[in-house]
Amino acid sequence: MSKEEDMGKITGAVENCRKCNLWKTRKNPVIGDGSLDSEILFVGEAPGYNEDLQGCPFVGRAGKILDELLESVGLKRGDVYIANILKCRPPDNRNPLKTEIESCTEYLNKQIEIIQPKIILPLGNFACSYIFEKFSLKYDKISNVHGKVFQINTLIGTIKIIPLYHPAIATYNPNTKDTLLEDFKIIKKVSDGAEIPV
Ligand code: URA
Ligand code: SF4
Repeated sequence: MSKEEDMGKITGAVENCRKCNLWKTRKNPVIGDGSLDSEILFVGEAPGYNEDLQGCPFVGRAGKILDELLESVGLKRGDVYIANILKCRPPDNRNPLKTEIESCTEYLNKQIEIIQPKIILPLGNFACSYIFEKFSLKYDKISNVHGKVFQINTLIGTIKIIPLYHPAIATYNPNTKDTLLEDFKIIKKVSDGAEIPV
């Protein structure tokens, strides 16, 4: 089965999903966007207002920042894949509940199996702590780990995990934007194959 067919199955499952209560209040589920052949996977937190309306990740204010950050290292959306921890919007953009994360990450895990990324970039605290736990890494607070490269060996090969601040924070804190711009440079170095100490 092709990657597109596999991802289509996930889309169908998410559209019919009733595993937590968020399906009741969402307008559209948000599966992901980008290239299934990319080696670079971004993992955000959950759809917000605009994403829920459009069914596409990072299309609001945080998305504008993410686009700028990608552009700063010569990448476009089509060069990467972007998914979220939760596929349905939490009401009023509240934080994801632990139970919702437990219910929904089955889909993200399948997306990771399909894409087989070489670099995973979790955005913000919820995505970072989930990805660290998934790959049995000890998670320190984001201010200590952002922009660092964590290399792990898995059945699908070596994966580099680079935790990043959530671009939404940069919409009200310019210092975070500078930090993100700096941290994004590492993506280029890592994907160009430069030796990065881990
Ligand atoms: N914030 C996220 O974490 N994901 C989105 O898709 C949009 C905003
Ligand atoms: Fe299902 Fe995830 Fe939506 Fe909850 S958030 S209903 S687990 S797809």
